[in-house]
Amino acid sequence: MTNKMLTPHDGEALAALRTALAGRLQGVRARVAVIAGSGLGGFARTIGVRCTVPYDELPHVGTTTIPGHSGRLVCGEVAGVALIVLNGRRHLYEGVAPRRATLLLRALLLEQPVDTVIISNAAGGLNPCFEVADLMLIADQVNWMFRNPLVGPNPPDWGPRFPDASNLYSQHLRETAREAAREAGIPLREGIYVGVHGPSYETRAEIRMLRAVCGADAVGMSTIPETLVAAQMGRKVLGISVITNLVPSAAPTTHEEVIENSRIAEQRFRALVHAVLARLKT
Ligand code: HPA
Repeated sequence: MTNKMLTPHDGEALAALRTALAGRLQGVRARVAVIAGSGLGGFARTIGVRCTVPYDELPHVGTTTIPGHSGRLVCGEVAGVALIVLNGRRHLYEGVAPRRATLLLRALLLEQPVDTVIISNAAGGLNPCFEVADLMLIADQVNWMFRNPLVGPNPPDWGPRFPDASNLYSQHLRETAREAAREAGIPLREGIYVGVHGPSYETRAEIRMLRAVCGADAVGMSTIPETLVAAQMGRKVLGISVITNLVPSAAPTTHEEVIENSRIAEQRFRALVHAVLARLKT
């Protein structure tokens, strides 16, 4: 049923991926999925690892080719909460279609009892009050990628054809994150994330536009497609941006700078996610 409603190519890919995941994740019943953004892969080492599945052992996922992104699923547990980390993601700028870029997440959500998806990313800080290595809770998003992973056939088990998007980032999870950050003494910003296609960083004119027109506080090249998929499937989403560079900047933005600053912020990110997970237990 499901596969007939997809393009044959997509349907076969999803079915093969689901079968592979079901085989590889036997005994895993994850409640939370965490997508680790650029430079944040070290988080997966802190989760009491039970099993790992390299992406190249899964059909149709593809190995991420970008420095700073590994490519494996890592299953573990934090504070009694079973979770799966997607350590590495596909980006649209790699030339991957939005449905393909979100295929692994879609398959995981179809196979696992995940109710909460924590999505992280490295982002440029547009808000002049932000500093490098700040964490920003995503309150809402602007899809400036002009691509959408929900385009195309929509099998019933994916969720509504026309999903509401007025509350993509769970209010309740945001409150939980704010409380967790306050108690753990972790400074936490909150704002609007605008997703752009990339891979080039923004021009000065684009930066002015993203601030003025989109009202955005942070800009990045990921997250938008995954949030749309998770929300369509009725999952609660928590989004966290790590501010890796400030824009506009006198110096050119480089990927090396982004990865380095993301790694600097990783400790904070890890502390925040652990504190949030501890609060999800009940
Ligand atoms: N722009 C777009 N994507 C990014 C940036 C940026 O400045 N920093 C990290 N990811």
